Amino acid sequence: MRLLVTGGAGFIGSAFIRMELSRKNGAKPEILNFDKLTYAGNLENLASVAEDSCYRFVHGDIGDAQLVIDLIEETRPDVIVNFAAESHVDRSILSPSPVFETNLGGTFTLLEAARRHKTPRFVHVSTDEVYGSIATPYEANEDFPLRPSSPYSASKAGSDLLALSYFTTYKMPVMVTRASNNYGPYQFPEKLIPLMISNAIEDKPLPIYGDGMQIRDWLYVDDHCRAIQAVIQRGRAGEIYNIGGNRALPNREVVHKILAALGKPESLMHRVTDRPGHDRRYALSSDKIMRETGWRPQVEFERGLLTTIEWYRANPSWIAHVKSGEYQSYYERNYAGR
Ligand code: NAD
Ligand code: TYD
Repeated sequence: MRLLVTGGAGFIGSAFIRMELSRKNGAKPEILNFDKLTYAGNLENLASVAEDSCYRFVHGDIGDAQLVIDLIEETRPDVIVNFAAESHVDRSILSPSPVFETNLGGTFTLLEAARRHKTPRFVHVSTDEVYGSIATPYEANEDFPLRPSSPYSASKAGSDLLALSYFTTYKMPVMVTRASNNYGPYQFPEKLIPLMISNAIEDKPLPIYGDGMQIRDWLYVDDHCRAIQAVIQRGRAGEIYNIGGNRALPNREVVHKILAALGKPESLMHRVTDRPGHDRRYALSSDKIMRETGWRPQVEFERGLLTTIEWYRANPSWIAHVKSGEYQSYYERNYAGR
């Protein structure tokens, strides 16, 4: 099998590539990782597979139509998995343009190239944030209305609809996955869990937005990757699959667990002005993917969190590298005076 993975140098895409390349020889796919290497793209995440003869990296933008067409023509992938995105809500609020260029424009370019070359399977990786904030006690299934709140989630909702329209109109075998909040090793420390772990390790303040009682459903990154594998193998074209971790927690509770595991004081928690348009609660029903593919989340939150904390503790140079340069100015822009 030949896989074209976009955004494979990021957090989830790199976990997916490492997982695919850990298969036994006969079952191992050939993987082409196509990534722009934005601030979030990091080839260090793939150091363990860089020399694998089944792996190749090409630097480029999914919005670059000619490059994408040439690449698909040359490699004729059996499956495209589109992870490439501007993936952070706070950055999308500070600067919305790149979010729409990549998440909408880039997905369009990729879909067009795949249509031209009749790519047999196209998995568009999306998010539960497209449903917006969900009132208690409801859970969003795949038919729930789309009510995105941020430029990020609006761009993802738009790209989901675009991808699905290629099935309806051109009968292109597209599938859309909508996962809940991921966590695990190699996550860029702009998202809640790695930011809190890395700040706590350095005894820096932990910025809690508003009352910190917003609820997220946490999914270990490897469980997400296994779900995508299940959708590639057993998903139906034209369908949407929610992927939840079945572990909803208020942010404060997540941060408490991190501080307790690191033996750090609660006084590190600092309440800051809330995020504009902040979704209060995400809640997802994953019944469909479980029923149709047999997938289940396997990693219990406490175990996944400890593995993640241990990974950050063991990789200070990775943290130092990603927190140097651009990260400092982002941090200043997002948190100063808040
Ligand atoms: P990430 O920010 O860690 O990585 C994104 C990757 O995409 C980076 O390697 C970046 O260089 C690359 N990229 C960005 N723009 C590109 C472009 N124009 N062309 C080619 N490559 C480009 O993101 P992530 O957390 O790994 O998320 C991956 C996907 O999963 C995204 O589509 C995101 O919307 C979705 N998702 C993420 C989560 C989560 O909790 N992180 C949850 C659900 C869905
Ligand atoms: P985040 O990891 O940015 O994911 P998303 O907004 O896509 O769900 O944030 C998760 C939750 O944590 C969200 O409710 C916002 C909150 N949060 C903080 O309280 N402080 C922070 O510094 C960050 C980054 C997030």
